[in-house]
Order: sequence, then structure tokens, then C-alpha cells
Amino acid sequence: MPTEAHIAPSPRKRHALELFAGLPRDYDRMGAALSFGQDPRWRLALLDTIDPKPGMRILDVATGTGLVAFGLARRGATVIGLDQSEQMLARARRRLAAHPDLTPRLSFAQGEAERLPFADREFDALTFTYLLRYVDDRAATMRELARVVRPEGRIGMVEFGVPRPTVLRALWRVHTRVGLPLIGRLVSPAWLEVGRFLGPNIEQLYADEPDLARLWRSSGIDHVRERRMSFGAGLIMSGERSAALAEVTDPVTGESHGQRPA
Ligand SMILES: C[S@@+](CC[C@H](N)C(=O)[O-])C[C@H]1O[C@@H](n2cnc3c(N)ncnc32)[C@H](O)[C@@H]1O
Repeated sequence: MPTEAHIAPSPRKRHALELFAGLPRDYDRMGAALSFGQDPRWRLALLDTIDPKPGMRILDVATGTGLVAFGLARRGATVIGLDQSEQMLARARRRLAAHPDLTPRLSFAQGEAERLPFADREFDALTFTYLLRYVDDRAATMRELARVVRPEGRIGMVEFGVPRPTVLRALWRVHTRVGLPLIGRLVSPAWLEVGRFLGPNIEQLYADEPDLARLWRSSGIDHVRERRMSFGAGLIMSGERSAALAEVTDPVTGESHGQRPA
């Protein structure tokens, strides 16, 4: 019987690992360019929602090059940024080396959102940005994210959205189907792949999960709020880890067990 370490990555995970291996060098400026400069505003809104403070321990999952993790640490929190891509993390660590003032309270770790290497209720808050389109079992992953947050601790995410009004949605489709591949082609083959993949991938998320707030609530997160920005192209979602007894499913064995409130 294969051990956990020998389970082959699913096609979706393999694709994510290959995709992000080629992106770190241009990631920060391309993220802003592909969203018409809106993506930094969405991250700021996420930071405001989490309201990081000195003394808080925060986990930033799918940290990538660490943009959210740096923002949290700059506001005084102690932060671990976790990502499955060693190439993205290498970029984050290089940036950290240039900001030695942050090293006492910012660190990066390689790991998977589906199997967080942390104890139950270890963090005061948790953030994740553009993660849910890359995991196979979103419900199990959401429960795993909630598991490591203390009761009433905040959880927040940024994800791309699809504008709802018909005209805006049509413009968004032109941008994602024509504009993004064109911009990507100008930068590199890896960014061309992103440009082609992103629009259909975002729409698939909402076809699969038309009610993300419900998914959050069923994962043990209360007071779920959605904020749509930039005409709906950006979604900031936040909530609080439920204080009530929650049913938790072990991500490896699939067994359910009760979790006591702290
Ligand atoms: C679009 S990037 C976002 C990076 C960063 N959060 C940001 O806002 O710039 C998505 C990141 O999720 C990471 N990722 C995807 N699936 C993951 C998983 N299952 N566990 C951990 N990281 C994952 C990728 O390696 C990549 O760095």
C-alpha cells in the first residue's frame, strides 16, 4: 500500500505545480497587469478585513511570492507563508532577504493546503489567495484551513470573480479570452499558458461552486461575508472560525471526528 508521500499528484495538482514553476520572476507585475492594476487593491481589502496586529500569529496559505504575507507582517503580525511550489517560495524568500527588519516575524514553509503541517487551532487568523481553483476537494481543503484557526479567528481570501451584469460579463469575457492570452504571449510561454487557462478556469470555479459562502459555512466558518470589487472581477470573502463543536474530516484517512471548542 503506498504511503502518503508516494501518492502521485492528481492531474490538477500536477498542472498547478508545473504552471507556477515558470511564473515567479514576473509574477508580481503580471498579477497587477492581468487585473488592470486591481489585484493590489483586492489584497489591501483582504488585509483590512483580517486587521492584523502585533502579537497575532497568521498563516497565509498558497502564499506564492508572499505578497499577502508581507502585507500582514508589515502590519505587525507574526506570519508563516505556506505554498506547495518551491519556485514561488524561492522568490518570496529572496524578497525577505532584502527586508531583514521582517525576518523575526515572517517565514516561509513548503506544504500543501490539503494537509497543513500544523496543530488544530494554532493560528489567530488565516488568509489564502487564488487557491480554490487549484485543489481537487474544495470542501475538505476548506475544513483543513479552518482546522488550524482558533475559534472566532478570522479567515479571509481573495479570488477572481465574474461580473454579473450582462454587458460587463461580456467585456470580462473578451478581456479573459483575447486580452489575457495576448498579454501572456508578449511575456513568455508560461504566461501564455496562464492567459489561455485563467478565464475558463475562473468560470469553472463558479460553475462547480455557485455558492461559495455555503461551502465556507459548511466548513465550520461563521459570519461569512462577500465583498465584490472592480465590478465583480475581484471577490474578497471573510468569516470567523466557528466557536461551536465542529465535525472535522481527517484529510488523509477521510475519517470524521468531533473537534472540541477551545
Ligand atoms: C495565483 S498564485 C497566488 C499566490 C499568492 N497568494 C498571491 O496572491 O500572489 C496561487 C498559488 O497557490 C499555490 N498552490 C496551489 N495549490 C496549492 C495547494 N494545494 N497547496 C499549497 N499551495 C498551492 C501555487 O503554488 C501558487 O503559488
